[in-house]
Amino acid sequence: MGSDKRIPIFAANWKMHKTEVQAKEFMASYLDLVGDISGREVIIAPPFTSIPCMGGLIEGKEHLFLAAQNMHYESHGAFTGEVSAQMLTEHGVSFVILGHSERRHIFGEDDGLIAKKVDAAISSDLCPIFCIGETLDEREKGETFSVLERQLSEGLSSVQDDKADEIVVAYEPVWAIGTGKTASAEQAQEAHAYIRSWLGQRFNSTVAQRIRILYGGSVKPANIQALMAKVEIDGVLVGGASLEPQSFLEIVNYN
Ligand code: PGA
Repeated sequence: MGSDKRIPIFAANWKMHKTEVQAKEFMASYLDLVGDISGREVIIAPPFTSIPCMGGLIEGKEHLFLAAQNMHYESHGAFTGEVSAQMLTEHGVSFVILGHSERRHIFGEDDGLIAKKVDAAISSDLCPIFCIGETLDEREKGETFSVLERQLSEGLSSVQDDKADEIVVAYEPVWAIGTGKTASAEQAQEAHAYIRSWLGQRFNSTVAQRIRILYGGSVKPANIQALMAKVEIDGVLVGGASLEPQSFLEIVNYN
């Protein structure tokens, strides 16, 4: 497990999967199977349409939190198809995934836009799960650290020290997302250590030590133990393997 000081996070990113009925079915079996969880935080990020019902389902469950998969940076206005932070917090959402590689690569979100969203989330008391990661091409060219450096410095450009520990960083190498190809625990640890040292220079070092850094990219029951054994890996962001209660719980309950 990661550092004792940082409570590990197990986050389910459902992407565009599950209707409201299916989300309720998942939660019914999850809650049935979960048992006692302590010292771990579990975050579910369903599609927007299931957020209202999920708010009620997680109420009173201390280890469970709700996340959105995206949001707009303005509080309201003529932005067809968008959702604001306030619309999310009203339903008990406490985290928001920002800068996911699918948002960056499919929907063209750039570092500047993501920075505005990070800012807006923090001002609305939503904790950003700020995603960064290199493509295969960038890794092969030896650019991994410079890509992470750019994404971190631009995406977190206006975050102040006193708010920095509200951020969760997710390192998700693009080549490992949804491909079945996980970064080795060593590759993940190396990137996490780089991110931690960058955070230590950008923010006060005590604060930087409190920021949780998750790994994402083909996490499954078979590799969770090796990943969590690394000291800088404070949890995981899980896509495919979070869609079934059984496999997600095997990840949450790894030991
Ligand atoms: P995956 O997705 O676990 O299906 O690779 C992870 C993510 O995109 O957050």
